[in-house]
Amino acid sequence: MADNIILIGFMGSGKTSVGKLLAKSLSFQFIDTDEEIEEKNKMKISKIFDVYGEEYFRDLETNYIKNLIHHIQSSVISTGGGLPVREGNSEILRELGVVVYLKARKETIINRVKEDDTRPLLQTDDLEGRVNSLLTLREPSYRETAHIEIETDDLSISEIISEIMGQY
Ligand code: S3P
Repeated sequence: MADNIILIGFMGSGKTSVGKLLAKSLSFQFIDTDEEIEEKNKMKISKIFDVYGEEYFRDLETNYIKNLIHHIQSSVISTGGGLPVREGNSEILRELGVVVYLKARKETIINRVKEDDTRPLLQTDDLEGRVNSLLTLREPSYRETAHIEIETDDLSISEIISEIMGQY
């Protein structure tokens, strides 16, 4: 298996913040799937959803990670929250390296994303209901995909990184 570390988890679970610092600590390359997709398509994710719809975005995500197999090593990859859910993606992610699920409680997530206007799936009047239903739907995919699970709610970013390094 390649030495990559793949971070998965719900929106607002800290994948990007943790990923950046983790990559730095390990002297690994940092890759954020959302940023890469925006850059390649010269379009913000909210615009891709608006113009082409969610399924098209999911195709872009799937193609992007598929193309990483055999092409990258010594990288930390932070993934979009919906990526492990699509059928087949779990296997691709596990083939890429060690998959770490950054787990966060619903309350923690809501606190972190409540002011956010960049995530199309969270633009709703019932944020709690949306987070609740998406989390319930996605939790099995996150658990099935992950080699390692970390409860992040009461940990600082450096504590999360120490946990990952300890188990990696
Ligand atoms: C999504 C999560 C977002 C981004 C898109 C869809 C999702 O990434 O990929 O808005 O379906 O959970 P983050 O998890 O980095 O916010």
